Amino acid sequence: MASDRGEYLSFDRVADLYEATRYMPPHILADAARLLSEDARLTPERLFLDAGVGTGRFARHLHRRGVTVIGADISATMLLQARKHEPALRLVRADLRSLPFPSKRFACALMVHVLHLIQDWQQVVSEIRRVLVPEGSLYLGMESPKRFPTTELYYQLAEEREMTLPNLGARSFDDILSYLMEHGAQMETLDTDHIRWQQTVRTSDLLQALRANPFSHLWHVSNQEHQELMQELEGRVKLHPDWKVRTETTPMHLSLWRVRWSARPEE
Ligand SMILES: C[S@@+](CC[C@H](N)C(=O)[O-])C[C@H]1O[C@@H](n2cnc3c(N)ncnc32)[C@H](O)[C@@H]1O
Repeated sequence: MASDRGEYLSFDRVADLYEATRYMPPHILADAARLLSEDARLTPERLFLDAGVGTGRFARHLHRRGVTVIGADISATMLLQARKHEPALRLVRADLRSLPFPSKRFACALMVHVLHLIQDWQQVVSEIRRVLVPEGSLYLGMESPKRFPTTELYYQLAEEREMTLPNLGARSFDDILSYLMEHGAQMETLDTDHIRWQQTVRTSDLLQALRANPFSHLWHVSNQEHQELMQELEGRVKLHPDWKVRTETTPMHLSLWRVRWSARPEE
């Protein structure tokens, strides 16, 4: 099994599946953007960086609220999708470990589901800190995991086959928070109690999505190994006589943290 995963996981391979497999209802994204823009209190001259912008799920809603947002991502195909969703978005292809921006360029930054993908994620934190103004805020977002029974079984079977590897980057969100705290950050959670939704999908649609190996935890396995995993999964799921019409529902929640540093890193 297991090929070298490299130093980071670009999402090139799943760009056209991303929004379907990481679906968030537009009104939820709009709520998140409202909360962020109200908290940040930015004028249009002050810039907001969406670091690891992907297909622009958050950035396009920030943009529509009048925030001057710049999205940065290493994946050209993710950026292409972001452009399709919102042609007016400002996008830059860049490696977050070495950002092509001068120091103190941004008033705020956002990162959602990025640091677990980059081996040297601490370098990304340093870069974000470098490009933020001293009183700037970094927002970190985290969606609760999608607990569809079929997806849970998929991961359980992968684990039984010893296919799963730890995250390439930050091992857990708690690790990120501990690291930030140890490096002088103050963190507060934003009140996102209302940013909750239920997601329902048809089991047959889930299986179809999983066949494409959409989640980065299993990108290191070969096509053959993934097909064998899917055969076992589909065999189990199809034991339910009603699998073709069955739907699955999971509760979802978005958490947001505001991170600020009191002292600048050594310059
Ligand atoms: C899980 S997606 C999250 C996208 C977006 N933040 C969202 O929540 O929809 C992670 C993104 O990080 C990008 N990424 C991974 N490593 C990167 C790096 N070294 N520099 C820039 N972007 C990177 C991937 O290409 C992908 O688009």
